[in-house]
Amino acid sequence: MQKPECIPYNNPMKIGLIGGSGVYQLEGLHVVETRTIDTPFGMPSAPITEGEIDGRPVFFLPRHGANHEIPPHRINYRANIAAFRQLGVDRIFSIGAVGSLHTEWNPGTIVVPDQIIDMTVGARAGTFFDSGQVMHVDFSEPYCSGLRTTVIRAASETHEIVIDRGTYVCTNGPRLESAAEIRYYAMIGADIVGMTAMPEAVLAREAEICYCGICIVTNPAAGLKNENLTAKEVIDAMKEASVQLRLLLRTAILALSPDRHCSCGSALSEAGV
Ligand code: HPA
Repeated sequence: MQKPECIPYNNPMKIGLIGGSGVYQLEGLHVVETRTIDTPFGMPSAPITEGEIDGRPVFFLPRHGANHEIPPHRINYRANIAAFRQLGVDRIFSIGAVGSLHTEWNPGTIVVPDQIIDMTVGARAGTFFDSGQVMHVDFSEPYCSGLRTTVIRAASETHEIVIDRGTYVCTNGPRLESAAEIRYYAMIGADIVGMTAMPEAVLAREAEICYCGICIVTNPAAGLKNENLTAKEVIDAMKEASVQLRLLLRTAILALSPDRHCSCGSALSEAGV
């Protein structure tokens, strides 16, 4: 990828929304156009729906494809983030289903994670800087603190209870975890488990786009209850959370200011060797 400076951000803010399992479109999005975008990394998961929410430009992409046909380990994460970058998107809210490692975080609980443990390293194309320029982006804080604060404040405004921190362990999937793996992830500090935050989060950082995860607990992680996990419970819990999620997103989007008060927009400035 060329250094993103080549695409100037002289436009007002543009917001990207990535929908996860059970979120294939966004009700309340006033659709303007459907965009089929090609990138140097191939095609994104689906055409991107351009629309607006209360006058703010919003671009929606269903991560697993329009009909949930792409499993997490086959998603072209680079094409997805590059497509947003080409559209001039400067902030991304990323919705995802997760299992919870805390029995008290019931299905439907919303978590705004602040840390990531990546168990997919080596299994997925995880950087835009594979050849040519050598770049080491800072990833101490994998999620944008400014966007996280906006979502957490929006939640208190809408009286939505969210967990305002948490460590997301990203597994490669598509299988779910064993009970022993979950015990191990709990030991190393994970709070929630999912299959899509990586490399999505780091690619957004490399593209100098603010990125915030909004995770919906769909199930207790493996071994935390006596029954087997099913894909249906994941989809059902996501559908059930959709109304509260929409309100939260709308409130957060309205609260965004055009200026970014974080370092995401200059993530590459000290990344080159
Ligand atoms: N594990 C991994 N990914 C998930 C889970 C889980 O338990 N639930 C929803 N996505």
